[in-house]
Amino acid sequence: MDGTLGGGGHFEEIIRALGPEGTAIGIDKDPESISRMRKRVSSTPVTVIIERASFSEMDSVLRSHGIGSVDGVLLDLGVSSRQIDDPSRGFSYRHDASLDMRMDPAAGRPAHEMLSSWDEPALARVLSDFGEIRNPERMASAIARYARVRPLHSSSDMLAALELEYGTVRPKVLSKVFQALRIAVNSELDELQTGLVKALDSLKRNGRLVVVSYHSLEDRIVKNFIRDQERGCICPPEVPVCTCFKRAQVKRINRKAIRPSQEEIAGNRRARSARLRMAEKVV
Ligand SMILES: C[S@@+](CC[C@H](N)C(=O)[O-])C[C@H]1O[C@@H](n2cnc3c(N)ncnc32)[C@H](O)[C@@H]1O
Repeated sequence: MDGTLGGGGHFEEIIRALGPEGTAIGIDKDPESISRMRKRVSSTPVTVIIERASFSEMDSVLRSHGIGSVDGVLLDLGVSSRQIDDPSRGFSYRHDASLDMRMDPAAGRPAHEMLSSWDEPALARVLSDFGEIRNPERMASAIARYARVRPLHSSSDMLAALELEYGTVRPKVLSKVFQALRIAVNSELDELQTGLVKALDSLKRNGRLVVVSYHSLEDRIVKNFIRDQERGCICPPEVPVCTCFKRAQVKRINRKAIRPSQEEIAGNRRARSARLRMAEKVV
């Protein structure tokens, strides 16, 4: 199961690697990815199931197809190159577009609506928690001040608000601001937490979970999840007999996150921040 179909690069490799009796299941929130992939894989010899859903709902997707469990789950997190490069989606500060940022444009609220619903402390929390912005209160107050007199609807409005406060804003900071908004709009970290639990539940014994993340917030969640699931009994040492009944659920395949090689980065700059972690279910 590929829980993040995107442009289908990984999915097509999975299909190629499967025998004719294999089943490939692809999920994405983005309707564009779903319709493109349905056309692309229409004539493959393996059974292909493609569903528009969140990977946090993978259990219901499996259930609706009468599938009890799978041999592997891949989550390649974040946004696809196609989403970033499409100016109409509002994911990038490099294009002037309405600040939407929804992976599923039919669900939830666009970023500009969320921005107008947050008070300053809430916005500061988003900037701090999801963008790790230094002095988030100053930035939140600058954005709020701008929004009181002018509409804050597009990426260029956001740029103008920040430039009014800071002068030139470094691309690294802009990426962080846009990352923070995107994570909030799509509830990405909550989805990831739920998705990891569902992935583990959906795997067969010896099945593998592979997660590629692109920033430290995601990677920390994945790392901690695998570490916690790898741990057996968590009773305090003074308890003579185990009462928690916790057993290790997985074993790590790679101790450290796998990073792309210089060669891979040279061919694909967007891979530069990727971290891949992998675990095998042991129960
Ligand atoms: C980095 S791209 C995946 C690229 C893909 N592996 C490929 O080879 O082209 C991430 C994709 O995951 C989707 N996505 C992000 N969070 C999701 C979620 N919670 N549920 C389903 N899809 C999600 C996005 O819409 C995007 O298409």
